[in-house]
Amino acid sequence: MKVRSDAHPALHDLEPSVDAFLAELLRGLSRRPKSIAAKFFYDEIGCQLFDEICSLDEYYLTRTEMGILREKVGEICDLFGPECRLVEFGSGSNDKTRIMLDHLHAPAAYVPVDIARENLLRCSARLAHIYPELCITPVCADFTTAFTLPDTPRPVRRTVAFFPGSTIGNLEPAEAENFLRRISLLCGAGGGLLIGVDLKKDRLTLERAYNDARGVTARFNLNLLTRINRSFGAGIRRDKFQHHAFYNEEFGRIEMRLVSLVEQTIQLNGTTFYFQEGEHIVTEHSYKYSVDEFAKLAGRSGWAVKSLWTDDAKLFSVHYLAVE
Ligand code: AVI
Repeated sequence: MKVRSDAHPALHDLEPSVDAFLAELLRGLSRRPKSIAAKFFYDEIGCQLFDEICSLDEYYLTRTEMGILREKVGEICDLFGPECRLVEFGSGSNDKTRIMLDHLHAPAAYVPVDIARENLLRCSARLAHIYPELCITPVCADFTTAFTLPDTPRPVRRTVAFFPGSTIGNLEPAEAENFLRRISLLCGAGGGLLIGVDLKKDRLTLERAYNDARGVTARFNLNLLTRINRSFGAGIRRDKFQHHAFYNEEFGRIEMRLVSLVEQTIQLNGTTFYFQEGEHIVTEHSYKYSVDEFAKLAGRSGWAVKSLWTDDAKLFSVHYLAVE
């Protein structure tokens, strides 16, 4: 099937409802410590700010992973083989995807999966324009929950999941294990997973990556409050909260928080939440793994490591896993 270059690829729409967002928010803000799931960062502005983060000097993850992918893409696509269906989780703005799509051998389909609907539609349309022969079937979904893949009109020899960017690090280790197991079932026998994983390293490098000098990460974090205000008329004062990110070595994770600068209450859909001065909302954990720790996690989730690549400075790793 030829996709017309002006066509919008048909969307498989499983976008979580605003009610589900509200229910999760109310649950998270009732916990001790208060928390908001990191997936809610990605509204239109959040996606733009995240793209900006990816090009920051301090945020070594994106350019290091892209360097590995560019260098190894031939080898990687040989491992995938011909007629693979590439399913990308958290596809975002597709820069890494294009490296892959330029080298895949007669792909059966490309399935970008993302929670940010408008961004997904825009990026899929752009890709359809660049790759008019490619079958693109976007899925708007929260990929941490179960969902099915849309039908593909062409024969599929292998389903390969693509999960770049170390987004696996934003899941708690037990969630990451469940997620990886679910992906192994989705890919089925013969399936593969190409995954980018940020590595443990010195505190300074890690903390700089989440506290950039231009304050883009701080705006990304605080934008959550703007999103809540816009969605639910909450009237939260952004200037009464502050971005805070640090490396928690015991847990091997960056912790990102919004810290209340004053004693205050906020109202959300009739529920009042009280903050002491200095009290925080956990907005993101970003786990860092050693190569061995990640291989063990993959092994517990039904995957075997087939290939592993890192950059010379061992900042970042890319793993190719096969369903066991
Ligand atoms: C998407 N994810 C892998 C990013 C990370 O590094 O954990 C999100 C991010 N948060 C702050 N900067 C980037």
